[in-house]
Amino acid sequence: MGRFAVIYASETGNTEMVAREIYEAIRSDSKELLDVRNFDGRLESDVYFIGYWVNHSTCSLEIMDLLGSLHGKHVALFGTCGIDDSEHYYQRLERNVIAFLPEDNNYLGAFYCRGKMPPQIRERYEEARGTYEDDILNRMLQTYDEALSHPDRQDLLQAHLFVDEVFKSLGIR
Ligand SMILES: Cc1cc2nc3c(=O)[nH]c(=O)nc-3n(C[C@H](O)[C@H](O)[C@H](O)COP(=O)(O)O)c2cc1C
Repeated sequence: MGRFAVIYASETGNTEMVAREIYEAIRSDSKELLDVRNFDGRLESDVYFIGYWVNHSTCSLEIMDLLGSLHGKHVALFGTCGIDDSEHYYQRLERNVIAFLPEDNNYLGAFYCRGKMPPQIRERYEEARGTYEDDILNRMLQTYDEALSHPDRQDLLQAHLFVDEVFKSLGIR
């Protein structure tokens, strides 16, 4: 299993942090780490770890295009998101995005964790007081605050273990 590529989209650094951890966890000398904005379509690899930040429950157009361009590859996904960390939510996010990956690839699974959101989102929630019921708004604010410490060490450890799992499913020890 020759070459590995970690390609990510990250607006505020959370997904980049996970991408770096994944890159470090790959036990190979033949590996690349690349921001999708610098991807010109010419990086040929065998195994792709593709990461994105969740925006309105999906990924950016660049990531959609990248996934759609892959054929006959081994592909794993990873992502960071702000508003939930349940397995159910992660599965929904995964379904939304693997729809863009052609079926002739070997899909290896996905890893998600939470990522802090920009302060403007909290401000917007606060401004909405009166528009939403207090209970709902307080829950939104709590969710925002819970995300502030992520990705944390535990998230990065889980990302590392995810790479180990991918290696196992590829038959690499
Ligand atoms: C415009 C915008 C839309 C977002 N949409 C979602 C969403 O639909 N679901 C979610 O869980 N998080 C959402 N988030 C939170 C981000 O996915 C999260 O903060 C992520 O870790 C950002 O990653 P980055 O630092 O790599 O850009 C949104 C954030 C922004 C700014």
